[in-house]
Amino acid sequence: MCGIIGVCALNRNVTPIISLGLRRLEYRGYDSVGIAIVSGDGLIIRKAKGDVDSFLSKFKVEELSGLTGLGHTRWATHGPPSDVNAHPHTDCSGRIAIVHNGVIRNYNTIKRVLELRGHRIASETDTELIAHLIEDEMPFSSSFFEAFVRAISRLEGSYAIAVINVEEPNRIYFARMKSPLIIGLGEGFNIVSSDIPALLDYTRRVIVLEDGELGWVTATEVKLFKLTELGLIRVEDDDLSTRVRFIEWSVEEASKQGFPHFMLKEIFEQPYSIKSTYEGNVEDPALRMAASMLWSSRNIIVTGAGTSYHAGLVFSYYLSRIARRLSYNIIASEHKLIEDSVGKGDVVIAISQSGETFDTLEAVRAFKARGARVIGVTNVVGSALSRESDVVVYMRAGPEIGVAATKTYTSQIMSLSLLTLFAALEGGVLDRSEVEDKLVKLSRAHEITAKAIEESLKHVPENPLVGSKSIYMLGRGLGSLIAREAALKVKEIAYIHAESYPAGESKHGPIALVEKGFPVYFVATSDSPEIAGNVMEMRARGAHVTIVKTSNWRLDVEPGDSVEIVEIPLEDSEILLEPYPLIPYFQVLAYRASVARGYNPDKPRNLAKTVTVE
Ligand code: G6P
Repeated sequence: MCGIIGVCALNRNVTPIISLGLRRLEYRGYDSVGIAIVSGDGLIIRKAKGDVDSFLSKFKVEELSGLTGLGHTRWATHGPPSDVNAHPHTDCSGRIAIVHNGVIRNYNTIKRVLELRGHRIASETDTELIAHLIEDEMPFSSSFFEAFVRAISRLEGSYAIAVINVEEPNRIYFARMKSPLIIGLGEGFNIVSSDIPALLDYTRRVIVLEDGELGWVTATEVKLFKLTELGLIRVEDDDLSTRVRFIEWSVEEASKQGFPHFMLKEIFEQPYSIKSTYEGNVEDPALRMAASMLWSSRNIIVTGAGTSYHAGLVFSYYLSRIARRLSYNIIASEHKLIEDSVGKGDVVIAISQSGETFDTLEAVRAFKARGARVIGVTNVVGSALSRESDVVVYMRAGPEIGVAATKTYTSQIMSLSLLTLFAALEGGVLDRSEVEDKLVKLSRAHEITAKAIEESLKHVPENPLVGSKSIYMLGRGLGSLIAREAALKVKEIAYIHAESYPAGESKHGPIALVEKGFPVYFVATSDSPEIAGNVMEMRARGAHVTIVKTSNWRLDVEPGDSVEIVEIPLEDSEILLEPYPLIPYFQVLAYRASVARGYNPDKPRNLAKTVTVE
């Protein structure tokens, strides 16, 4: 959802840092790209519709030079992708340049006022208005910073902003409200960025900014303020130094390492990420604290968006089946449907890989405002979710760059499975030896996943779903929940309409669409052998059926001309283990279908990795 980067350096050219940062941030938005470099007494601005690599080579960006600059990758909100709508944007004088991630809600009002005051607005973006607003405040301000603060105070909505101006060539001003922004501290340089991967090549020391914070960086200093109703409050340097975090993710983890796509690399990384989630959480007091909070709660609400919502569905099933606790799943953007009945004594499990998804954060805020407590499950240390939760369970999956979530889904399931077990222990539903028995099994999930990836690569055709425009992905019980995620993967990167619903519902409507050759995938799990009947219904109507199941149970269906059965090895009958052998098949299926159709699975159209808008 737009990536921003700004670099101020003492005695090194910043364009290589910005260029690499843009490549690393491209997963956040990839419809247009731009940079601004302070040079001599002016700004060099290059921007265009298109992807980062074409942009960098078209404008020979690495030949530009300067000590301060900004970069931006865009995911269009206000105004379609175009050269003129690409960031950075400037004021009328061309002496202020800005990059922005977020959406300004009072766009129309600000635009009208600025036009009346004679500003010439070139683009359709909300971002450009901010440059003009600063310019507009300059005559009434004693410094650029004052004009910047006055302009920011007039904004409503969400923003992460970085601004440069030719009068102060060695400074980047920044502000954050509801869109992520971090500062990377280097030796002789400082970086402002939307996300960690953009600065990992240069520093691991970061400060995560909070909503309402703004300030500036030079090559050697950071000045931070909080904008409150009472005015600006300075964050003292000592307080700032206590907020410096060391990021443990490595540069290798955030690069492709020879894989053609991040998505494939991340599919292959799952045995490591699952192991890391297990080992990092099994002894973690935060997980025990979360389990006890969960057990003593009145109601349990599970929320998230996209893949994280799907992981939450699996969690609720495990909670019911293993810990005997009922929970309520709500898609984050629909929190209003239930928020009036949420209150004191309730616990919300908010799941978000990035910890920055706008809808999830809004749901958390709404539930908290009514007295609920929050357990955040996230992959990103210091993310907004981690800061707004009462207890945080970290997934420890390492960075995920591919827009379609893969390894974070399995790590979410692992962390939530551990939470289920400790909640069951806390409530006395399972005794210690039963929990330990299941933990031993879970500790082997990474081996099962490694085998499943190997098998999936063998079974999924190189060019799957040829000619398919629409498919069903069905299951019952646990299988119906995994099928939801499988369908999302196929939709988002292969652009094939993949519908998922519980298989038992076929006869209540969807089977009307099935005709000869219609592709139907079944995710068959051991808790629902009755799925055999649903397979028969589809077979009888000529559907082309593929059943993906684990080898630990017997399904009463014979393979045939139009019925293929793919069996992935799993010896154990533990339900907690069943997602690991099954999901890789569908990740590989979606990946191969996307590549075979000529798409880039890392950059699905119209999507972004971290959705920081409403
Ligand atoms: C976007 C991504 C999805 C992701 C969802 C939730 O839609 O494209 O892959 O599942 O956001 O993201 P989160 O960071 O909250 O898990």
